[in-house]
This record gives sequence, C-alpha cells and structure tokens, in this order.
Amino acid sequence: MTIDFSQQTILVTGGTRGIGKQIAQDLRGLGAHVLVTGTNQEEIDQLNEAAVRNNESQRYYCVDFGDPASRDNFLAALQDIPKIDGLVNNAGINRLNAIDSVEATDWNDMLSVNLTAPFYLIKAVSSKMKSAGYGRIVNIASIFSKISKERRAVYSATKFGLHGLTVGVSNDLARYNILVNTLSPGFILTDLTRKNLSEKERAELAEMVPAKRLGTTPDISKVAIFLLSNQNQYLTGQNIVVDGGFTNV
Ligand code: NAI
Repeated sequence: MTIDFSQQTILVTGGTRGIGKQIAQDLRGLGAHVLVTGTNQEEIDQLNEAAVRNNESQRYYCVDFGDPASRDNFLAALQDIPKIDGLVNNAGINRLNAIDSVEATDWNDMLSVNLTAPFYLIKAVSSKMKSAGYGRIVNIASIFSKISKERRAVYSATKFGLHGLTVGVSNDLARYNILVNTLSPGFILTDLTRKNLSEKERAELAEMVPAKRLGTTPDISKVAIFLLSNQNQYLTGQNIVVDGGFTNV
C-alpha cells in the first residue's frame, strides 16, 4: 500500500505547531503541496522566506479565525487557488472554565475558531472538490466530542458541533467522492496540553490511559494521513477516536 500526495494541494489550519505542524510535515514528506495557517505574522513571514529560500513548495498564511475580517480575507485568497484536494480543520482553542465563569468572549472565540471557521472552509473547498470529483476533509475534534469533563462545557459544545458538521457534510458530499471524517485525539503532548495540565496531572492521566502513556503528534498524524489519502475510499462521516483506549474505561 503506498500513499502519495504529489500533485495534491492540502490546507492545514493551525499548522505552525502541535498536531497541525506534524500533519503538515508528514504530508510534505509524502509529496503534497501544503498550505498552512498560523496566527503570528512575524513567524509566518519567516516561514515563507525559509520555504522560498529552500525551494520548498509549502506556503503559510496568517489568519485569525476569531476575527471575521481576517477569516474573510483568507477565504478570498483561497478563491485564487484552482484546486484543493484536502482540508484539515485543525486550528482550535480550549479555554477551561466552569459554566458560571465563562465569559461571552470565550464562548464567541471558541465557537469562531473551533466550529465557524471549519464551516466556512468546508464550504469554500467543497465547490473546488466537487468540480474535481475528489476531496478528503478531516476535522480535528477531541475526545470531548464524545464525552466531557468539568470546565469543558464550551469546548465540548464546539467539538460535538464539529462532529455534527462532519456527519451532515459527509451526507452532502459522499456522492462526489468527497469523504469527510472527524479525528478525535485523546491527551496528546503539545503546547495546548502543557498549558492546560500540570506535569503531575499529565502523569496521572497517562496512568489512566490503557496504553499507559499520553499520545504523540505522530500517533494522530498517521491516522490523518490515511483519512486524507486516496487509500481511504469508503470511510466517511465517522468520528475516529485516537486516545490509547481512554474513552473505553
Ligand atoms: P496548539 O495550541 O499547539 O495549536 C493550535 C493551533 O491552532 C495553532 O497552530 C494556532 O495557530 C491555531 N490557532 C489558535 N487560535 C487561533 C485563531 N484564533 N485563529 C486561527 N488559528 C488559531 O494545539 P494542539 O494541541 O496542536 O491542537 C490542535 C487541535 O487538536 C485543536 O483543534 C485541539 O482542540 C485538538 N486537540 C488537541 C488535543 C491535545 O491533547 N493537544 C486533544 C484533543 C484535541
């Protein structure tokens, strides 16, 4: 079985660090032309300069999905790209708060980045994918798209919603050979996890996972690569949980 993304253009949101960065790197290694979004203009400029200097084809865009003007500028830039074969809606934020201390701005920001941006992006790429008769979309949700925990009501609402979007959109698009899935990581060691969990909490969590460790970004990327590839021919509308068995115990 070979996986080859040459001749394919794939957009990865939030691909400058963590899970998205790993997926973007692995896609590049398999020949894809990768478009990556991030939020730090200075870093984006440096990454584009380095890509040009090294004769690499990936391109970086600075987008704040919490800002409708920034999002719409990016959507306008996407219109000039003739073909997009794959989309990974990875950008996400998680502000932990019990429901009585959630501010309206937290709700709006998390909804905008975690759910509204994927909606607009799927809408934008699906017309290109329909014309090409091919497309693969992966929405990165979380185990909190299936279960929840204290201080994660808003995060869970956005991630349950994201899987709802997957299911609905997969029904609209399967007939055009556009397959849409949710990939739900468990506890993965990234900046987001280090920020939200202390070292002690991370060690305790690892003990609770049947696999007895936290996940790594390659654990997630390998599954994303399959879902994005043309090796996936018939899997659509599903929520693939990659959590070392955590949600089963
Ligand atoms: P991270 O914090 O390392 O990276 C998040 C990415 O989202 C960054 O590249 C950032 O540029 C982008 N982003 C953040 N705010 C944004 C905004 N306003 N506009 C545009 N982009 C924005 O996070 P990590 O851990 O790599 O998470 C990636 C995805 O995986 C997220 O959707 C997260 O919810 C999900 N996830 C992560 C888990 C983990 O354990 N790290 C577990 C389950 C799900």
